[in-house]
Amino acid sequence: MTDMTVSPAPSSPIIAPSVLAADFSQLGKEVAAVAGGDWLHVDIMDGHFVPNLSFGPDVTATIKRVTDLELDVHLMIEEPEKWVERYVEAGADCVIFHVEAVADKDAVVALCRTLRGLGVRAGISVKPATSVEEYLDILGEVDLLLVMSVEPGFGGQSFMPEMLEKVKTLRAAIDAGQHSTVIEIDGGISADTIADAAAAGCDAFVAGSAVFKQEDKAAYIDRLRSLAAAAQSQGQQ
Ligand code: DX5
Ligand code: ZN
Repeated sequence: MTDMTVSPAPSSPIIAPSVLAADFSQLGKEVAAVAGGDWLHVDIMDGHFVPNLSFGPDVTATIKRVTDLELDVHLMIEEPEKWVERYVEAGADCVIFHVEAVADKDAVVALCRTLRGLGVRAGISVKPATSVEEYLDILGEVDLLLVMSVEPGFGGQSFMPEMLEKVKTLRAAIDAGQHSTVIEIDGGISADTIADAAAAGCDAFVAGSAVFKQEDKAAYIDRLRSLAAAAQSQGQQ
């Protein structure tokens, strides 16, 4: 008799280059250079929720046209509920909004349901000062939780290692509840920091300046993925 036991495939770390750090004068070329990533992270800033402006749905749609990667759209904007549909139309595969940008926890759940209803992954994000405890009982509504490891608003800042405590709390809650929520980390991720983030329990890693400043971006993305995979498998032993 054939042995039908199948071990679950080890999930490979997800690397999401952040287009914010790209040279926008050659966007198509820059996006093509990071095609070895898993998702493309798209940072939307409104000059109110964060003290910086980036771009909006039209540029997002342009980015969608020049990549086959899934778009991981990070909304650092006020009143995200008014905008999510525009980003879904622009080609987002996952829309992440900040819990600090909506009225309360009920509004977080409502917007997650709206996103799933629109056919995309529902993502929520927490700034460094926001704890994750309050959201542990709604993980079933959330496809992805983005832990900010810098203050949102700018690329190129230093990683805040103390944010890994939140990741450990989330990992324990997700595993205990058998949820499928992806833990993503954003800010200051590089070959120097990714292993610690992976060992703490992250599944997905945004990397902006560290990737785009490389001559060989494809090799660097592979290196990040290998470092994360090694740290994840060490953590499982
Ligand atoms: C910061 C953004 C990040 C940024 C990361 O507010 O959310 O996605 O692009 O940039 P690095 O990797 O340079 O910290
Ligand atoms: Zn981001």
